[in-house]
Amino acid sequence: MENGDYEVPENANEHCPGTQSESAGKSDACAGCPNQEACATAPKGPDPDLVTIIERMATVKHKILVLSGKGGVGKSTVSAQLSFSLAAMGFQVGLLDIDICGPSIPKMLGLEGQEIHQSNLGWSPVYVESNLGVMSIGFMLPHPDEAVIWRGPRKNGIIKQFLKDVYWGDLDFLVVDAPPGTSDEHISIVQFLQATGIDGAIIVTTPQQVPLDPQLCKAAEEGRSCFDDSKCSVSAPALKTIIEKLLSELKVSRPEIMEDGA
Ligand SMILES: Nc1ncnc2c1ncn2[C@@H]1O[C@H](COP(=O)(O)OP(=O)(O)OP(=O)(O)O)[C@@H](O)[C@H]1O
Ligand SMILES: [Mg+2]
Repeated sequence: MENGDYEVPENANEHCPGTQSESAGKSDACAGCPNQEACATAPKGPDPDLVTIIERMATVKHKILVLSGKGGVGKSTVSAQLSFSLAAMGFQVGLLDIDICGPSIPKMLGLEGQEIHQSNLGWSPVYVESNLGVMSIGFMLPHPDEAVIWRGPRKNGIIKQFLKDVYWGDLDFLVVDAPPGTSDEHISIVQFLQATGIDGAIIVTTPQQVPLDPQLCKAAEEGRSCFDDSKCSVSAPALKTIIEKLLSELKVSRPEIMEDGA
């Protein structure tokens, strides 16, 4: 996306000022654009979809983004295990995968091949447990192994739709697994969620001091929690520390019902 503040149509010219900009349809970059007339005459103002997102997110207490500058450092693994763990502690958890081009969350949650259903309330997440719902573009792809190649505006469109149309119900936590880098998806998710309040971000890095944990890889590959049977002796305590810090910073206490092992 050229413009950090405004939405840009998928078929827009390069350097499009954005549909909501005062110069929409009027700037030099608009010359010859198929949207020029529509943009020049359309009413400007705040995006009405943002109001819908605010309404939708009113039932979500905390929103946590999981980010990293580099790819393949373990964001999806952390997102998946954080969600498993918070759910095992009794919280209502939603996990939103906005890695449009490489969604790995369905596999890591053991949900490959599942499909999203629609109800009159919106798109229903796919549930691992009654208190752990997952939404990912991976559920919409006919062939999970095929790459998705989408331009920025189309990616922004699906992220907006995830925020607008998914019926999460009451959630204690919405964990958002982001793609690597600082690009369209990151700008969009922050723009769309800004007015609803984002509690913070977990930045995943790979410090040399932390040994790689093959047991964690196995848990992720098999779509299960790394806390199961306390098998991941390196990762489980590290994740537990992160979760304790998160809960204490957000001043959230554990629900009454607790399960062992988390
Ligand atoms: N602590 C760890 N120790 C060893 N391997 C790990 C660890 N965390 C993640 N991995 C492995 O690294 C690989 C990449 O992990 P993952 O998919 O979570 O990264 P990512 O940051 O989400 O990647 P992408 O940027 O492509 O979205 C996976 O095979 C995963 O099992
Ligand atoms: Mg990932």
